[in-house]
Amino acid sequence: MVTSLKGRDVLTLTEFSREELLFIIDTAFNFKQRYLAGERVIPVLAGRHLAMIFEKPSTRTRISFETAMRELGGDALYLSASELQLARGETIEDTARVLSRYVDGIMARVYEHWKLERLAEYSRVPVINGLSDLHHPCQALSDVFTIMEKKTRDVSKLKIVFIGDGGDNVLHSLMLAVGLLGGRITISSPRGYEPHPSVVKLFEEYAAPNGGVFEIERDPYKAIEGADVVYTDVWVSMGQEKEREKRARDLEPYRVTVDLMMRAKPDAVFMHCLPAKRGEEVVNEVIDGKWSVVWDQAENRKHAQKALLALIIP
Ligand code: CP
Ligand code: NVA
Repeated sequence: MVTSLKGRDVLTLTEFSREELLFIIDTAFNFKQRYLAGERVIPVLAGRHLAMIFEKPSTRTRISFETAMRELGGDALYLSASELQLARGETIEDTARVLSRYVDGIMARVYEHWKLERLAEYSRVPVINGLSDLHHPCQALSDVFTIMEKKTRDVSKLKIVFIGDGGDNVLHSLMLAVGLLGGRITISSPRGYEPHPSVVKLFEEYAAPNGGVFEIERDPYKAIEGADVVYTDVWVSMGQEKEREKRARDLEPYRVTVDLMMRAKPDAVFMHCLPAKRGEEVVNEVIDGKWSVVWDQAENRKHAQKALLALIIP
């Protein structure tokens, strides 16, 4: 039995039990079905406002949240961190206190993850992580929804392989989401590119008790053997631009090519959170090829976030 999720923050997804996560995904299936049947507006959040603070650029997160709020009967405000008084030294604590007098939820995309924790501590409305250096929970929520839609609702039956930067924020959240649902994720990355220790700790505390497992296989050809889902993300995340050359050198053997994809199961799907750096972590023949589900995956951000918003915004 899932009781109300109203007021819940979403910083890492570990705020939810397995049952609650499945409930949010079921709600996403329902919202998508109704949307495709022509029911564009489901005004369960009429009169509610979501503030969206961005320290970094965004296409998908910004637009999927904005349209989701409107289709739920509410509204969303795009706030560039550089144009808020935050940029002139107003504290995160004071910003959180003031914003929560105006709006019903706060979504923020930040560099350092601790800023979200601080926002959540001082906000009296729910805070949603729209990507930090460590986590991207809304991406992972919609990714497990996409995996279930394309494959099976029982993700523990699947071989899910992530190839590339093992310290990537999108991977961290995918590990936690798959792990919370009792699934296994195989990570293929070079030495020095492992999941962040704080994420491994969360995984041990929340995912492992549900049956979640992750493993590291350095050889991408071995890792991809028998994969149902192949996932990658950029080699250089926002904020890592100074490391570009070293990262490109170290991650070169981890490019997702046709040759690599041929070792996965014949019906394997290729996923990427986007934006992609074509020719770097993935070649055109894969992202545009028969395996790719990246456009449905991007669309699902909106359906999954609608479910999340409808359930957590008071
Ligand atoms: N996947 C994702 O979060 O994309 P944006 O950076 O465009 O929001
Ligand atoms: N890992 C990427 C994800 C972008 C959606 C980044 O942080 O830039």
